[in-house]
Amino acid sequence: TESNSTAATQDTSGDKIKVGQYASLTGETSTFGVESNAGLTFAVEEINAAGGIDVGGKKMQVEVETQDDQSKPDEAKTIAVKFAADPKVVAVIGEVASSRSKTAAPEFQRAGIPMISPSSTNPDVTKVGDFIFRVCFIDPFQGFVMAKFAIEELKLKKVAIMRDPQQDYSVGLADVFKDEFTKMGGEIVADVSYNAKDSDFRSQLGQIKGAGADGIFIPGYYNEVGTIARQAKELGITVPLMGGDGWDSEKLVEGAGGPGKALEGAYFSTHYSKDSKDTKVQDFVKAFTAKNGKAPASLVAQGYDAMMILADAIKRAGSIERKKVRDALAQTKDYAAVTGKITIDGDRNANKSAVVLQIKGAEFTYVKTIDPK
Ligand code: PHE
Repeated sequence: TESNSTAATQDTSGDKIKVGQYASLTGETSTFGVESNAGLTFAVEEINAAGGIDVGGKKMQVEVETQDDQSKPDEAKTIAVKFAADPKVVAVIGEVASSRSKTAAPEFQRAGIPMISPSSTNPDVTKVGDFIFRVCFIDPFQGFVMAKFAIEELKLKKVAIMRDPQQDYSVGLADVFKDEFTKMGGEIVADVSYNAKDSDFRSQLGQIKGAGADGIFIPGYYNEVGTIARQAKELGITVPLMGGDGWDSEKLVEGAGGPGKALEGAYFSTHYSKDSKDTKVQDFVKAFTAKNGKAPASLVAQGYDAMMILADAIKRAGSIERKKVRDALAQTKDYAAVTGKITIDGDRNANKSAVVLQIKGAEFTYVKTIDPK
């Protein structure tokens, strides 16, 4: 891809650490940006209240500039070009959706600015280059997790897949699930495509019903998943519905008609459960809830961890120089994050466990933890 960015030489003067964030605060998947930003903001408040980050003996406050990409990949790229031209930016956090991380990442790579995605799980994101990191697992693992869960726990044998070809995340996760489920002895009886902007998914669901599926895997995002689930119920489909982390939103259940309705009992894999017994998680849930009046969603925890891992790297680097921060990020080892112990591997991905949650009423209840292979 051609770039029109003019990467500015970094200016390390001043006593603040400037962090850029690009997030979908509005648009189709606005809860992704809103939740992730809430976590990042909570982390920055905590860091600054403690006096800032110790950079080689000097305490520096963190200052965040957040830009709304409106849930659009092109807008994410435009923002990346702007941040790349800002000599004050030390590092950037974003995005949640893989397609948006993928369009922005090449700009940061070219400019030599470390980027950390809190939650993009498509493998291609960090393949962009050595300045691009993530603090979450990747879809080859997530697809394995749900295939294993479908076979071993739900005893499913003939699963149908519904995918959105416009989203890198959806395509990648659908392919891995298909591969793993088949390898484990299951059969994919239908694999249909949809467009998230459509409001009628009945013909795809009709096809699935006709194929005799005993479960449906829908690696999409929360807004269309609610509609799909409602229409599945209308068509008399009662087999288990399954998804991935893209379902994880406080708007998911509402979109499915409310608690106890079309998504009742459905399962999805994600990064964390607020019900974890881990004291680190419990302390985080307590502190966040006290301040914000509601428990932190998975994306909140991911956004928090991304910022904390950046802070830890800056401290270990003893410098805000981008290259040194990059090198320290690459060396992150056994960092005790809220979403699990994080070690950044040679491909700049995090090797972590996944959890499977079940929708019960308005709650996502903990079912199982699946550790990396
Ligand atoms: N993993 C999704 C993607 O890569 C984004 C996502 C993560 C959405 C966590 C919700 C929760 O596109």
